[in-house]
Amino acid sequence: MQTRVLTGITTTGTPHLGNYVGAIRPAIEASRRADVDAFFFMADYHALIKSGDAARIERSRLEIAASWLAAGLDPQKVTFYRQSDIPEIPELTWFLTCVAAKGMLNRAHAYKAAVDRNTGLGEDPDAAITAGLYMYPVLMAADILAFDAHQVPVGRDQIQHIEMARDLAQRFNHLHGGAFFVLPEALIEEQVATLPGLDGRKMSKSYDNTIPLFAGGEKGLREAVMRIVTDSRLPGEPKDPDDSALFTIFRAFASATETAAFRQALLEGIGWGDAKQVLCERIEADLAPLRERYEALIGDPVGIEEILQQGARKARAIATPKLAQLREVLGLRSAASRAVGASSRRSADASKSRKMPRFASFRDADGNFRFRLFAADGEELLLSSAFADPKAAGTVQKQLKTLGSAAVLQVQPLGLMLELEGQPVASTPEYADQSSRDQALLRLREALDQLATLE
Ligand code: TRP
Repeated sequence: MQTRVLTGITTTGTPHLGNYVGAIRPAIEASRRADVDAFFFMADYHALIKSGDAARIERSRLEIAASWLAAGLDPQKVTFYRQSDIPEIPELTWFLTCVAAKGMLNRAHAYKAAVDRNTGLGEDPDAAITAGLYMYPVLMAADILAFDAHQVPVGRDQIQHIEMARDLAQRFNHLHGGAFFVLPEALIEEQVATLPGLDGRKMSKSYDNTIPLFAGGEKGLREAVMRIVTDSRLPGEPKDPDDSALFTIFRAFASATETAAFRQALLEGIGWGDAKQVLCERIEADLAPLRERYEALIGDPVGIEEILQQGARKARAIATPKLAQLREVLGLRSAASRAVGASSRRSADASKSRKMPRFASFRDADGNFRFRLFAADGEELLLSSAFADPKAAGTVQKQLKTLGSAAVLQVQPLGLMLELEGQPVASTPEYADQSSRDQALLRLREALDQLATLE
């Protein structure tokens, strides 16, 4: 089974070398594993909470998308999208808001810190705090729960948010009596390097000590490296590699052999200017080919848009049926699907003339029991798995009649799989493309709802 790993990147800044080494590079590496189904998205709704600067958010969305793609993210293999292209996320945010304990949100670290700051200043506790900041954890829970992510790689500062997502998932599951959401787990990367910045403190845009990843080109990189703070030792004097940001950054890019050689050079007294030169060349060897891709991507925003729209379609293929199921559970079922069922029941009772979806059971060549589901017009919608026991096949049919379109449908590239209690029980034929699959999804839901109203 694949593990679904999901993470969001807030679009408020320009990626720097620390982001690359600490997040982008390891995440892309992990996304290549066969047992990982990776979801990466730009959390641009979250960005609105932190910044009202529209131009900056727009620029940041583009730079982050181009950076991740240039760094080797494969949008065919992973699902790469923008939060704001998935309307199911704000919809789920509201569903979760309605089960969220206000007291839990009062305890969120970021909110509490803002309140403490206000109190310290003698202000009203909630001065200048938006409801957006307050709701931040619920929006983040919706990001995760809409896709049934198993693991969420985050920094330590985000652990509380994942715990809240679990809490909300559990509450919802409990209140509505079903396993509607997977309970996500935080994945804390212990050995991921945090890179020092120009002043030796952790590289972070809040310290204004960053080395840009691609922005500013090779020149920008060189200029930043030249500003890395060093001690005042002269050329010829031995330098301490373990007390040098320069060396730590070098190590994050170099092989063990290269690192040992650089350590030796420092101990033997290479001048800081020359050492910076060596560092620049080592980073450049890795980044130059990526930067070329970055420039091409950033020069073609329409191309990026297309990739992201494709990602949004992939993501929505999962979130749309999920939210449809939740709507049913919450009593927000479309009146149309009920009316169709009700009127057809009447006519079925009256004359049996109106065609309805139906199951057809049979025994396959291996002696196992299976069934098909046909739509009212005779289209084959589902073929069940093989059951050794005909009763088991019958039970599944009964359960489907009870559930209607609230049954869990897993969306696959060219088909749909129906699950009961986490087990696959039936699947659709393979469709020619995703849009035929999505059409079929609507017909299948309609048929299941019609069956449910017949019961
Ligand atoms: N809050 C995260 C951060 O600041 C970004 C984020 C938003 C996120 N939604 C997410 C991370 C969902 C993981 C999963 O880093």
